[in-house]
Amino acid sequence: MSLSQQNIINFGSGPAALPQQVLSEAAEAILSYQGTGISVLSLPHRGAHFNAILEESKQLVRDITGIGADYEVLWLPGGGRLQFSMIPMNFLGEGQTAAYIDSGHWSAEAMDYAGYYGNIETLAGSRELNYRELPSLPPAIGHYAYLHYTTNNTIYGTQWNQIPQAGAPLVADMSSDIFSRPVPYTRYAMFYACAQKNIGPAGVTLAVVHRSLLERTVRAMPPMLSYAAHAAKNSVLNTPPVYAIYVSMLMLRWIKNKGIEVIQRENTQKAEALYAALDASTVFQPVVSRKDHRSAMNVCFRAGSEATGKAFVHLCARHGITGLEGHRSVGGLRVSLYNAITLQDVEKLVAVLKEFELISINK
Ligand SMILES: Cc1ncc(COP(=O)(O)O)c(C=O)c1O
Repeated sequence: MSLSQQNIINFGSGPAALPQQVLSEAAEAILSYQGTGISVLSLPHRGAHFNAILEESKQLVRDITGIGADYEVLWLPGGGRLQFSMIPMNFLGEGQTAAYIDSGHWSAEAMDYAGYYGNIETLAGSRELNYRELPSLPPAIGHYAYLHYTTNNTIYGTQWNQIPQAGAPLVADMSSDIFSRPVPYTRYAMFYACAQKNIGPAGVTLAVVHRSLLERTVRAMPPMLSYAAHAAKNSVLNTPPVYAIYVSMLMLRWIKNKGIEVIQRENTQKAEALYAALDASTVFQPVVSRKDHRSAMNVCFRAGSEATGKAFVHLCARHGITGLEGHRSVGGLRVSLYNAITLQDVEKLVAVLKEFELISINK
């Protein structure tokens, strides 16, 4: 690998940057897993080595979140979107109603999927504001099968700092901010996150489900779609993505060693540095104006014109900075500040932003 390749900073929204230490260990294990002479890619999924990886990964999730034995920790296929389907398939009976908070594209997609299985009620939403703000939280109401919300809206750059008061089991899509800050995880009946942002590579999804919710499974279904069946088979119902789970385990070790408080402090510093530069900018404007709604994970902003945005992306590329384009549905620019991004990475971006402003002013 050339030096210039090593130094690329990837602010992409996922599959996202992973720490160098995790990448090095993951790369080494491809050639020989722990000196066995066998590649981690070829480890049998029911053998002792993979079983140890699986058990450690689950224990790390328990250590990081502080959940007890009353929760099942599952590694599942199908990304975030399969969870949008499995949640209602398992927990929303025909004739029942599930409550959703519609704070962004992924919340809305989760609701659309749930509509195949039962009734949906939008308890709060900010679609009419183009999701530039979070909606006001509703009071706790108890007669729903569950209440689903998205803790961080990856595409729009908003993030909840409050947890809804749910009279019903609370289910959260934490795909883009899991393990980025301390969270009282035991308030949730279920939380889940596709791995490719803060946990590891694409190909696996972490789902943590309370046993009391599992007991509420509403219909019979093929085992691959049933949380209870995955739990009964310890996440090896079929051949799981061994490598994705292995790299996620390495990342969980990295997170645990660093400590969630330290991670949160760094994430706050990173976000503050970038938002301060954007608030002071004459060329760029942050999309989310309410400071208490701004995401520390995905910072969305716009330039005066598309051409200006493209010119900035081009200048960043010359400095070895990549992954800045906004989601294709909204355009603009987006910087993802997941755990592997350092404050130094953000400072480098801010320096390029200021260089771009100077060039723009002097034109
Ligand atoms: C919050 C959130 N939920 C769900 C998804 C969908 O994940 P997947 O592409 O794994 O289906 C994404 C993807 O970016 C996301 O940001």
